[in-house]
Amino acid sequence: MGAAPDDLVRIFDTTLRDGEQSPGATMNVEEKLAIARQLDELGVDVIEAGFAASSEGDFAAVQAVAEAVSGPVVLSLARTKEADILRAVRAVEKAARPGIHVFIATSDIHLQHKLMMSRQQVVEAAGWAVELARKHVGHVEFSAEDASRSDRDYLGQVFAEAIRAGATVCNVPDTTGYAIPEQLQALFAWLRANVPGGDRIVWSTHNHNDLGMAVANSLAAVRGGARQVECTINGIGERAGNTSMEEVVMALDTREDYFGLRTNVRTEQIYRASRLLTQVTGITVPINKPIVGENAFAHEAGIHQDGVLKYKLTYEIMRPEKIGRPSNTLVLGKHSGRAAFVDRLKSLGLFGPGLDVNAAFIAFKALADRKKNVYDEDLVALVTEEATRVPRRYELLALDASSSSTRQPTAKVRVRIGEAEAEAEAGGDGIVDATYNALAAVVARFGGRVPQLDRYAVKAITGGTDAQGEVSCLLRDGDVLAGGQGSHTDILMASALAWLSALNKLEYLRAHRPVEAETGP
Ligand code: KIV
Ligand code: ZN
Repeated sequence: MGAAPDDLVRIFDTTLRDGEQSPGATMNVEEKLAIARQLDELGVDVIEAGFAASSEGDFAAVQAVAEAVSGPVVLSLARTKEADILRAVRAVEKAARPGIHVFIATSDIHLQHKLMMSRQQVVEAAGWAVELARKHVGHVEFSAEDASRSDRDYLGQVFAEAIRAGATVCNVPDTTGYAIPEQLQALFAWLRANVPGGDRIVWSTHNHNDLGMAVANSLAAVRGGARQVECTINGIGERAGNTSMEEVVMALDTREDYFGLRTNVRTEQIYRASRLLTQVTGITVPINKPIVGENAFAHEAGIHQDGVLKYKLTYEIMRPEKIGRPSNTLVLGKHSGRAAFVDRLKSLGLFGPGLDVNAAFIAFKALADRKKNVYDEDLVALVTEEATRVPRRYELLALDASSSSTRQPTAKVRVRIGEAEAEAEAGGDGIVDATYNALAAVVARFGGRVPQLDRYAVKAITGGTDAQGEVSCLLRDGDVLAGGQGSHTDILMASALAWLSALNKLEYLRAHRPVEAETGP
């Protein structure tokens, strides 16, 4: 990347790396590919596709993303170790625009208690690693982990060495979510002014949300001179998460009058990206989440509704269409043909390269048979589900359940497991419990490990009694967590689909457990 125009804020998406570190957000290769393709559609500048040296699975995912997307730079994270850097180089070598992201911690706390290294050793490791990475790729980002808690002069010294060694981007992470916006703004202004070579590179900000300030900190950093924001879709990430991509992009867009800056993001793709991630991980967003939450554009108070009806801008600072939120209009039904279906997908921005239109159309017909009116929201759910469909070991073939106030609810399921089929019946505290017990019985019969249900949530995608329900659940097997999601006009079916989708993912994760990183991020 050459020198950025000063009014461009690059969007560096780390959903597939830092975001994936969020409990239950682990994704398989196909799911990462679906997200990466959507990020490409969205127009992000950089995709951090994973940490290639951390596991075979991560390596394969970075490699697959590198080959699949052509617009953004595709990066792999690497520690300042030769093996990590060479593994990252291999993983991104087929990318149209490859990059390496080297990091090492710079705070005294990390040096003394984690790395057991002196300040001088860290300076040398940073320079050495960046130099090695630059021998292989032109785009090298250097991150000083825990930068916001590091001694400022020392931090400047490490960055100066990274720049001398060839770093093209310097990232200042607030790893623990400790920073205050004004402090961060001042830190960026100081680094830009005082680090030798600091005017030749792009300064980047990377914030965690432990004190709820990740977005505010990112915007303050931009005011201080950062021209790259590292963020994740829906703000997912370790602990309280990372900077939320949609919030930071829409803040820059909506308050362009104040910031005078722009991004390359096609904002109309934001809602789809958010939905896709929810679909893949089973991690739903709170209803009041800015931009993408269910209520983010809903006006409930009479006085507000009155104002909006008279003139939208009385209470609205953004239009939902701007982020590609469907307006919930009636669109299609069981007599709609393929052309109308494809046309509607195109106008909703859902017609992407990763979509199997035949499969999506068959799924649409099945849905229209169960549901009189198929709304835009239903189409978003359907297409995101199709986009992430992967060959599954466990598949639901049939579900029969009965519930009564006078006897214990029971459920009977038939499941395909690889080439075989199995049935089981069970009772439970409620109808969902009975269904899950029956599914667990099938798994146990085939010698599988029965997971524990950690989280279960249900919501309606559209209104009305034939609304589709969307269920997300989180399954646990020891310390391995996997989220799954299912949507159906029947909540119980959606529940069973969600459980099996999480189970399929759990199996995948057990088979691709990451190698423990000694000094991982
Ligand atoms: O939070 C952090 O410090 C990181 C770095 C590896 C950039 O994620
Ligand atoms: Zn981070």
